[in-house]
Amino acid sequence: MKIDFHSHILPQIDDGSRSIEESVELLDMMAEDGVNIVCATPHYYSHKRSIDEFIERRNAAYEKLKPHLKPEHPKILLGAEVLYNHSLIHCDDIGKLCLEGTDYLLWEMPYSQITSGIVSDTEELAGSTNIKLMIAHIERYLHFTSYKELSALMQLDVIGQINSKSMTSFSSRRMCKKLISDGFVYVLGTDYHRTDSGHELLSAAEELLSKKYGESIIGKIAANGERILANEPIYKLDSI
Ligand SMILES: [Fe+2]
Repeated sequence: MKIDFHSHILPQIDDGSRSIEESVELLDMMAEDGVNIVCATPHYYSHKRSIDEFIERRNAAYEKLKPHLKPEHPKILLGAEVLYNHSLIHCDDIGKLCLEGTDYLLWEMPYSQITSGIVSDTEELAGSTNIKLMIAHIERYLHFTSYKELSALMQLDVIGQINSKSMTSFSSRRMCKKLISDGFVYVLGTDYHRTDSGHELLSAAEELLSKKYGESIIGKIAANGERILANEPIYKLDSI
């Protein structure tokens, strides 16, 4: 099963797809790439709106898109990419932002240093009943924070997602491999925003990963994805 855990394919809800047509085009590309399931994870910024308002807007965007979906399109699961905010740690409603049918929440770090406060807040949230944290595109934060600070976050009871594009880009590929060998990476996502936003489909990253680690890594990623959707325990990719 090929699962894209991170995308902005819903129309006109964030800085992702600009129209229903663009959403359909993105889904056509993903179908062509062999994706079975795509998680629609629009940005959730708690300083902008309430969780209930966000969910209402997200569901409305999905309803608008629904009549245009084709049988070959990947199945869409609704979720959110939730930007860290201290106020969310004790928020009773945060579970509503988990990926549909699971306890997994896509948790985005601010684009600044990962402080000990952020780490302890994340630890507290990760320890909540019914919340499992998937840290979005972990490689990206290394532009803002040290490897040591990122490691402190990733050593918590959380899992990491990397973007396809970061594997294919020469400048970030080596860092992605280090994150994989340190056991921080469990799944992939495209983080696709727009047809012209320069992201990469999943198979581009899979091809490079197979070359480096052998084809078994693709099976491992797929198995992790299926376990996430079933809320079962998952495994580190480096334990292959
Ligand atoms: Fe994203």
